[in-house]
Amino acid sequence: MTRYHQLAEEMSGRIRAGILRPGERLPSVRSVCRSHRVSPATVTQAYKLLEDRGEIHARSRSGHYVSAHLGGRPLQQCSVSRHSGASAAVAVRDLAFELIDTAGRRDFVPLGSAFPAPDLFPLRKLARALYSAASRLDPQSIYEQLVPGNADLRRMIARRYLETGCNVPVEEIVITTGALEGLNLCLQAVTRPGDAVAIQSPTFYVVLEAMERLGLKAVEVPTHPRDGISASTLAAALDRHPIKAVWLMTNFENPLGCLMPDNEKREVVKLLAERDIPLIEDDVYGELYFGADRPRPAKAFDRSGRVLHCSSFSKILAPGYRVGWAAPGRYARLVERAKAMTTIATSVPAQAAIVEFLKHGGFNYHLRRLRKAFESQQSPMLQAIARYFPAETRVTRPEGGYFLWLEMPERVNALEVHRLAARQKITVAPGPIFSPQRKFQNCLRLNYGLPWSQKVESAVATVGGIVGSLA
Ligand SMILES: Cc1ncc(COP(=O)(O)O)c(C=O)c1O
Repeated sequence: MTRYHQLAEEMSGRIRAGILRPGERLPSVRSVCRSHRVSPATVTQAYKLLEDRGEIHARSRSGHYVSAHLGGRPLQQCSVSRHSGASAAVAVRDLAFELIDTAGRRDFVPLGSAFPAPDLFPLRKLARALYSAASRLDPQSIYEQLVPGNADLRRMIARRYLETGCNVPVEEIVITTGALEGLNLCLQAVTRPGDAVAIQSPTFYVVLEAMERLGLKAVEVPTHPRDGISASTLAAALDRHPIKAVWLMTNFENPLGCLMPDNEKREVVKLLAERDIPLIEDDVYGELYFGADRPRPAKAFDRSGRVLHCSSFSKILAPGYRVGWAAPGRYARLVERAKAMTTIATSVPAQAAIVEFLKHGGFNYHLRRLRKAFESQQSPMLQAIARYFPAETRVTRPEGGYFLWLEMPERVNALEVHRLAARQKITVAPGPIFSPQRKFQNCLRLNYGLPWSQKVESAVATVGGIVGSLA
């Protein structure tokens, strides 16, 4: 047995003995080097082996952690995306609407919702900011900054970009009605009906809707559940299809929760610049990281203005206020014009309220609490899945955001799970709604953005029971 196998077995033994418990951090590579007199490569190989076996998982810049267990058996991690790219006319139907519809119903447990629990947000403080800002609003100013939006807000956003390694001039930023409007406008700015657009697979159903409206074709690119799209996989898709634009969620994708490593982001940006293809970057979850630092957007590597970066306050501060923005690089003026010609402006008082909160509300403090809440809600959800779902179930373990992606046993039909769960007033998001070709038949997206409670645990147990009965 090699030294790294021995080390892996030793750590595995500690986990089995309960010395290292689910959620706990393993000793750092450096400290194991010292205590065992081995090289960093040996420790890294040992940890990699345990990661591949699903016993531990890494969090960027934070270390290695013990994974959730089912009895003595580690919960398996989703490791591969088996689905290959193909061009297809987009057709997305009623199910996605049903999920949005039930998200707000108090009699449902919304495990399938795309929204986190509203009580995680400082809604009272925001209401005070709204009142204060709106009552001080100079009447003339209402018309002064309709497009591209509130000047103070754009300045503050530009300042935050600097912290993520992006140098975005204030003039590039267009305030939009949520990220979704920005994304739609960006997509419209860089495509014509009939164009092919590369998307992650699986992807958020709203992306598919947006493409359908514009008469675009989706090229689904296989996406790794942990690392997202790689530059080489994307290059292969670009070689096969006449792709005119790429739409990626680089940080904590919806639904996989995957995070593209920096070097892949850099390579993708370089590849697309070489081929003169714009990248629409949907980064609404980038601030919801569990590691030490915010992951960088692909925009940070853009030197040619081809990255159209979109985000919003919807998931991080002010759900329902519908304030987002786009930083569309060389396409900024096109997007600004399109914004003016569609909705003219984003609500002026809502923008003023966000400015007021960013100035005086303790935004960074709120963000730290929100990240902690999501991170702490992930573990019990994983443990409940390990306890209540069939043994072959595989699950992702994202380093941010609030979505888990599950691969159930092959024969389980996610649409059937959805139907049976809905009868018990529980929603789940079935895999096929995340693919224009209705792939991911045996997959589910679950939301852990809900404070953990007996009710949520019973709902997970019920869904696990349903899955077990179909397996
Ligand atoms: C990946 C992704 N992009 C965009 C949006 C929409 O963001 P907004 O509410 O700011 O329009 C969502 C909302 O669920 C999302 O999950």
